[in-house]
Amino acid sequence: MKFRKVVTLAMAAVLGAALLTGCGSSTQDTQDNAAEGNTTASAESTVPTVTEGKLIMATNAYFPPYEYYEGSQIVGIDVEIAEAIGEKLGLEVEVQDMEFDSIITAVATGKADLGLAGMTVTPERRQNVNFSDTYATGIQSVIVKEDSDIQTIDDLQGKKIGVQLSTTGDIKASEDFGEENVEKFNKGNDAVLALTQDRVDAVIIDNQPALSFVASNDGLKILDTQYVEEEYAACIAKDNEELLDAVNGALAELKEDGTIQSILDKYLVAE
Ligand code: ARG
Repeated sequence: MKFRKVVTLAMAAVLGAALLTGCGSSTQDTQDNAAEGNTTASAESTVPTVTEGKLIMATNAYFPPYEYYEGSQIVGIDVEIAEAIGEKLGLEVEVQDMEFDSIITAVATGKADLGLAGMTVTPERRQNVNFSDTYATGIQSVIVKEDSDIQTIDDLQGKKIGVQLSTTGDIKASEDFGEENVEKFNKGNDAVLALTQDRVDAVIIDNQPALSFVASNDGLKILDTQYVEEEYAACIAKDNEELLDAVNGALAELKEDGTIQSILDKYLVAE
């Protein structure tokens, strides 16, 4: 029995090696990077991912400017950061759109390599996934109608608050104002739609999508008072420390050479 296991493992190793050499010649990106003198080439191909040669990014693409649809394509800050990381690691990025609520499970159960979704680092989430170093900051903002009587955070007491399910806006609003006053939507857009239709009195959501939603819907404004400050990072399965280290290494280089800042500058809207 034991012997058979060893044989199977040995065969798997041979097969794996054959596969590796097999695709070596077809990973054009990898070769291009090496040719351009990209110094992280040594990290390539040794980083374990769900699918060989790929970096599967789980996200929820209704969170502009971090991720959103442009036609049928998902674009935004997180997509560009994933692509920059993928290029450093010699991995081809595949973006998978899902409910925000499913991202951590997808990553923790090995369906995706990393979650990049303007995701805030929280101690509760850290129980299920690892977080990379942070790459951006966010603030929970409150959107109301222009003629609303809500002027401060305290005015939210007893009002109906719309949020995106399982986001930090949801968690904080439920804690501070009571679960019964919080209406949870699968997409941030749907919460904003409910506000325009007077089904909720306010929406609590991260500041950058808030700015984008207010710009694309008439009659809305953002309260001056900021609710909570947060830090965004990529989440990665706890058992894939190699990927965590590789992503952190790539992020450090991308911060150092100004790539992250230029991606942020390209998309972030001034307050
Ligand atoms: N920063 C908030 C959180 O982590 C909201 C993120 C929502 N992201 C998205 N792609 N829909 O909970």
